[in-house]
Parts: sequence; structure tokens; C-alpha cells
Amino acid sequence: MVSIRPATIDDLPAMQHANLCCLPENYQMKYYLYHALSWPQLLYVAEDYGGKIVGYVLAKMEEDSEQKHGHITSLAVLRSHRKMGVATKLMQAAQHAMEETFGAEYVSLHVRVTNRAAFTLYHDTLGYRIHETESKYYADNEDAYMMRKMFDISLKKEEDKRRKANAIKDKDKDSPDTPAKKPAASAALELPDEPEQPSSSASMGSRGGDTPSPMVMGLVQCPPDVIARQADEANTPQGGNQNDLDEDAAKKNKRKKKKKK
Ligand SMILES: CC(C)(COP(=O)(O)OP(=O)(O)OC[C@H]1O[C@@H](n2cnc3c(N)ncnc32)[C@H](O)[C@@H]1OP(=O)(O)O)[C@@H](O)C(=O)NCCC(=O)NCCS
Repeated sequence: MVSIRPATIDDLPAMQHANLCCLPENYQMKYYLYHALSWPQLLYVAEDYGGKIVGYVLAKMEEDSEQKHGHITSLAVLRSHRKMGVATKLMQAAQHAMEETFGAEYVSLHVRVTNRAAFTLYHDTLGYRIHETESKYYADNEDAYMMRKMFDISLKKEEDKRRKANAIKDKDKDSPDTPAKKPAASAALELPDEPEQPSSSASMGSRGGDTPSPMVMGLVQCPPDVIARQADEANTPQGGNQNDLDEDAAKKNKRKKKKKK
């Protein structure tokens, strides 16, 4: 039986040993130490029932990039323990920690274009996709696939973006400014769409029941020629009340009669 557990500093020599057995890309002990001290949550080992380390995953976070993401530095399982799901479990443990502990948006890795076993594991079993091909990435000039697997957080972000974009599109469609519908300006000029208004406001030149402007009211209620005529007739300043005018005329007549007497 093989169990998967977080690696400790004591596991580092065994991890390095497994790496030397399985891969041409090897690292000095200080590189393992750097990973273990910086991201202890991202190192896992596979241990058999005798306490032997038979596999490992070494991963890190790339926190300086635009999108915070994890990166698989190295993965290996001893030949004696392959095709038992050990690598799958190691990868899932590291991915889970990247997502949950560090809020990674995705995880990336490099794999040799000829590494069929690893490519199938990443692509078919774990759902990674080729992001780009890096020419002569390895020391022996072999190309690498740079692969990525998006995590839920970034998929949700993408979904939110799509929803917002669709909402804006729908809003634009419904808006009266769109060519499909009548433009607001011409609609206002045509008027008949509006409910019929009482005749009094219509006679005041008001549109659709809007409160008429003071100027419109003044013109309709007291046209200048009427005001001038009234002023002439009454010989009073503009705007005098007709009753006041009648009273003044009566007083003048009385005064004239008194003088005659
Ligand atoms: C690649 C490696 C880590 C896979 O480890 P593993 O524990 O055998 O992988 P798993 O048992 O979890 O396999 C999961 C899936 O990967 C694929 N896979 C694994 N080995 C495969 C092989 N030899 N050929 C084709 N596909 C393979 C299969 O789809 C498999 O699913 P299945 O068992 O249902 O068919 C292991 O072969 C290894 O250590 N290779 C050398 C080091 C290496 O290449 N590391 C990766 C560097 S990028």
C-alpha cells in the first residue's frame, strides 16, 4: 500500500534520490530546500508500507505574474510503483493546496513533447491543456509543451465576465437608442404615442401635460398687443386689473361732475 502525505525537510534527500532515478532534470539540494521553506504546503511524497519514498511532487507558486498561479517543478514515481494512480494522487494533492491555500487561478508545467506517459497523465487524466510550445526548452534542445489547468476561481471569473458582457449586450438591445427602435428625438417630435391631454393644457401649447414654460404661459395668457390695447384703453400701466380700471374711471367722472357744479 502507498500513502500520500505532505513532505517534510527530512524527506528531501529521498525526493532527490527518486528524481535522479527517474529524470534527466536534476537539482541541487538547496533548490529542494528553497521549495520546502517557501511553499511547504506544495510538496508531497508517496510512501510505501515500509516507509520508502516511491514518488514525489515538487511545486511552487508564481506570485509575481498577472494571475497568481502554481507551477509543477518536478514529478516522478519509481518504476516499481507506476500505473497505480500514485502520480495522479500526488498531482491532485498539490493542485488542491495551490487552489485552497494560495488562491491560485491555474497551475502550469512543462513536459517534453516526447514524454507520452506524462503527457497522457496531464492531458487525459488531469485535464491540462497545451498553452504553448517552447522551442528547445530542455538542455538537450528538446521542445516543451507548456501546459495549464484552470482552477474554479478563474473559471468563475471568466463566467462572470461573460455574464456581464451579455447583460450589457442585452441592455443595448432593449435601449431605445438602438436603430431597431424609434430614436428618442423623433419619437418626441411625433408625439402621438403619448396619452391625450386635457384641452386646457393643449391650448396653452403644452406638450403631453408637461408644465409649460413661463414664457409660453405669458404669451398665451397675455399677448403683448392685448396688454397694449388694455393699457391704451385704461390709460394705466400695463398689467392693471380691469376692476381697478373701472373704479378709477368712476372716480374721475365724479370729480368732473363736482367741478361742473
Ligand atoms: C509520468 C509518471 C509520473 C506517471 O506516474 P504513474 O504513477 O504511473 O501515473 P498514474 O498511475 O497516476 O497514471 C495516470 C494516467 O497517466 C497515463 N499514463 C501513465 N503512464 C503511462 C504510460 N506509460 N503510457 C501512457 N499513459 C500513461 C494513463 O492515462 C494513466 O491512467 P490509466 O492508468 O487509467 O491508464 C511516471 O511514469 C514517471 O515517473 N515517469 C518518469 C518521470 C516523468 O516523466 N515525470 C514527469 C516529468 S514532466
